[in-house]
Amino acid sequence: RKIYMITPTKTRAEQIADLTRLAQTLYLIPNLFWIIVEDESQRTGRLHRLLQSFNLPFIHLNIATPDYLKPTKNQSTWRRPRGMHQKNIALQWIRENTNTNDDALVYFADDDNSYHWKLFQEIRKVQLVGVWPVGLVGELLYERPICLNGKVYSWFHYIYRKRKFPTDMAGFAIHLGLVHKHSNYLFNVSANSVGEQESNILDAMTSMNQLECLANNASKIYVWHTKTQSMFLTTTEKLRNAGMKYDLISEL
Ligand code: UGA
Ligand code: MN
Repeated sequence: RKIYMITPTKTRAEQIADLTRLAQTLYLIPNLFWIIVEDESQRTGRLHRLLQSFNLPFIHLNIATPDYLKPTKNQSTWRRPRGMHQKNIALQWIRENTNTNDDALVYFADDDNSYHWKLFQEIRKVQLVGVWPVGLVGELLYERPICLNGKVYSWFHYIYRKRKFPTDMAGFAIHLGLVHKHSNYLFNVSANSVGEQESNILDAMTSMNQLECLANNASKIYVWHTKTQSMFLTTTEKLRNAGMKYDLISEL
């Protein structure tokens, strides 16, 4: 069973390092198709080179988040939806390039999380919608569904208590058929839906009693919501003042 994995990716100094780590994880995973969507108005050579350097099946798409939705200097980024336009065009790509009856799974994988190969074995077990614990998220060591005999009856979570399905994007996968069935579903890109995106898509496509509890009845953590620290980098202006400049070498 094929896995379509959707990765939005934002331009930043650490981007190619993060994606190198992720691509190398994907080397361990058979039958996975990577939909990588750059948050840029044009696809960049940098990302193209990274993708070419790996022998993975992929499609490289792009769409720029409109400026008015980007966080301003004095706004922290968690007040803005991240990677939503990108996830949306990936959903559209799937609807246009796969068949309604294909038996495949869809998973949203951010570029900076950490994924154990066993996670993908769990994803391949999904019949309609599968859920599992995610490490290092929601101000906790983990958030997780609480399950009995493979069914979810509540959730262990701490922040945003009003979420109906309190899981991170990394904590569920859906059958491809649901993406076709809910053919108009797109993530809400507006700022007031921050933190509710996961809950909203699950609410639209499934219900609590349909959820399949995976990762050994949600007792195992196979994915972590790690965050790459943004590095402190000296400005080019300061470098110039120090009589220095970068040579034109490139990543890859
Ligand atoms: C958390 C969830 O794990 C995300 O799946 C969810 O989209 C996000 O919150 C949200 O609710 O907005 P978090 O780690 O806080 O994610 O966010 P980032 O890792 O900064 O961004 C998520 C993904 O979107 C990354 O792959 C990132 O490269 C991409 N992104 C972020 C963009 O494409 N554009 C942006 O402006 C920001
Ligand atoms: Mn992240």
